[in-house]
Amino acid sequence: MENEYPFTHRRVRANQHIRELTAAVKLSHRNFVQPLFVEEGLASPKEITGLSIHTRESIINEIEETLRKGVSKFLLFPIPSSKANKDFNFSFVASVVQLIKLKFHGEVWLACDLCLCSYTQHGHCGVLNQQESKLLNHETVEVLVNYAQTLAKAGADCIAPSDMTDGRIGAIRKKLNSIGFDDVSIMSYSAKFSSQFYGPFRDACQSTPQSQQLKNRKTYQVSPLNPQDAIASSLRDVTEGADILMVKPAALYTDIILRLRQQTLKPIAAYHVSGEYAAIESLVEKKLVNREAAHLEVWTALQRSGADIIISYAAKFAKEWIERMEY
Ligand code: PBG
Repeated sequence: MENEYPFTHRRVRANQHIRELTAAVKLSHRNFVQPLFVEEGLASPKEITGLSIHTRESIINEIEETLRKGVSKFLLFPIPSSKANKDFNFSFVASVVQLIKLKFHGEVWLACDLCLCSYTQHGHCGVLNQQESKLLNHETVEVLVNYAQTLAKAGADCIAPSDMTDGRIGAIRKKLNSIGFDDVSIMSYSAKFSSQFYGPFRDACQSTPQSQQLKNRKTYQVSPLNPQDAIASSLRDVTEGADILMVKPAALYTDIILRLRQQTLKPIAAYHVSGEYAAIESLVEKKLVNREAAHLEVWTALQRSGADIIISYAAKFAKEWIERMEY
């Protein structure tokens, strides 16, 4: 009998061998970055809304464990013990960076998030005016340049500004070069959208905006309704000296990853943020998805869209999960 479906696509789907052979996307744990939180004055590690917060001591154990699992790249977020609105003190994070580098040297690649939101009383990512109605660009960049310098001197491999002010990439690059840290790279949160999906992170870092006048971050983060702004800001950051661009959140913005991929040769990092991560974890809790398979599917989508680097709260499981992935 003649085949009723001569145009079948099911031959390439027929078994795991052919599905494996035809897999164009190949995930590797080598492209993953694990975020790490460290809190000043914390007595023992804790968990807040599903994110692990470490002490100066426990972060070392956590890095050791993650290295044993084959993941060696980290993105560090400090949570200082006291908040201020000026004269910020970056010595805690500097001491943690030093500690990590002293212990692990070149075994780890350490990127440090650069932002003021966990330092400020009002929870905004930079310095506000007196009335707390406006984020001041110039004043913020000045503080960030100083902060970046502190992190570079402490031994950071990469500075990752997440504040979204203008001109900070150029100013930081210029400063680092002038003091002999031209080998420290910059990963710019260049396409960072004003999003609902940072909730768990803000709980963990106590960085929810508090100001009555300025209730959210819409005057500095990119509007989800304006994709061109994300692309233009990213290309602007390239001209200022960014080595790596970032799209954040990731899974909701794969269109941006794809468009950016088509417009730049720079590496692109996709940050699957805390709320996106928590969304999967709550489906897991309800037994509605398989945890590993769900994260692998998201990671696949990010890489398929053009991301080179994946920042994920589950990064430390990447090797294990990718190895036993079912095709
Ligand atoms: C700080 C910063 C945020 C995140 C990373 N850096 C939060 C924010 O903009 O409020 C979010 C990360 C996450 O949700 O996982 N500017």
